[in-house]
Amino acid sequence: MTTTQTRGASAVLVDAAREWRSSLTGLISALLVFESITGFAIYLLPFSEFNQFGVILHTLIGILMLLPVVWFMVRHWLVRGKGNLSHYQLLGYVSLAFLAVCTVSGLVLTWQGIVGPRINYNWDVIHLLTGIGLVLFLVIHLATVIVRKVNTDSSPGSLLHARRRFYLYSTLGSGVLLAVCGLWATLYQEPPAISGFSDDYNWRFGEDRPFAPSLARLDNSAWHDAFQQQVLKVIGNEKQAAYFAALE
Ligand code: HEM
Ligand code: HEM
Repeated sequence: MTTTQTRGASAVLVDAAREWRSSLTGLISALLVFESITGFAIYLLPFSEFNQFGVILHTLIGILMLLPVVWFMVRHWLVRGKGNLSHYQLLGYVSLAFLAVCTVSGLVLTWQGIVGPRINYNWDVIHLLTGIGLVLFLVIHLATVIVRKVNTDSSPGSLLHARRRFYLYSTLGSGVLLAVCGLWATLYQEPPAISGFSDDYNWRFGEDRPFAPSLARLDNSAWHDAFQQQVLKVIGNEKQAAYFAALE
């Protein structure tokens, strides 16, 4: 099925089913779905191993997808940008503006994470808000296209088929990437948090100050509390005051 876009007297025919069916369209959709799910998981879900690997994959995929996204957008613009401005195009341009700022802010956050001590809060908010805007307007952009096509198409078979393929590519592609993230988090083994000092450790600030001149201290509270309970049990109630005074 074809749609017609007009500019003045010239008419341009676009094979819509071919556009939906294209592997490039499916790939871009899968990548954007994955970026959105991992992005909102970072924002909404509590700190977890899945989210830590999510941030790494979100950033890596975010960088790797730059080239295909630019390729898709230039092509999509050339194919769909012709003719008088329609509301489909307007919604497309708004989505594109959000995508551009979201990508630039994502790259800035990545750069700040690599070279600096912390990311900038304002860039983080810009990335979050443009991410929300992108998802919102892209869904409206596609929904308006889909609703209109279903209502007006005289032979919708091939278009429906092409769109089903688009949904399949988007779900499978983003699902595989999410599964990689889940698998990575499951296979990860946390290194032991407490390990002994090596034999040739330098104790030059004293045996009770292993990290000096840093002010870092080992958190022995769990062990300390358990030990204290045992001591209190052994010495009985009458000697407790003396014990605490000695401890002070
Ligand atoms: C294009 C679709 C994208 C969407 C919808 C999206 C969405 C999000 C969201 C919602 C967050 C959480 C923000 C927060 O916690 O405040 C986030 C975090 C992040 N995004 Fe994206 N993002 C996208 C693309 C990118 C790209 C292209 C990059 C860079 C290559 C990127 C890099 C990052 C980084 C580094 C973070 C972590 C920031 C932090 O630690 O809070 N994102 N993203
Ligand atoms: C985030 C950026 C965008 C994405 C991911 C996107 C995605 C899509 C997809 C998947 C379709 C259905 C396949 C097709 O018929 O080509 C579509 C349709 C369309 N897009 Fe976009 N688009 C974006 C931005 C734009 C922009 C900037 C324009 C402006 C020229 C635009 C104009 C259109 C038009 C005119 C249609 C077809 C409407 C109809 O069937 O009459 N899109 N878009």
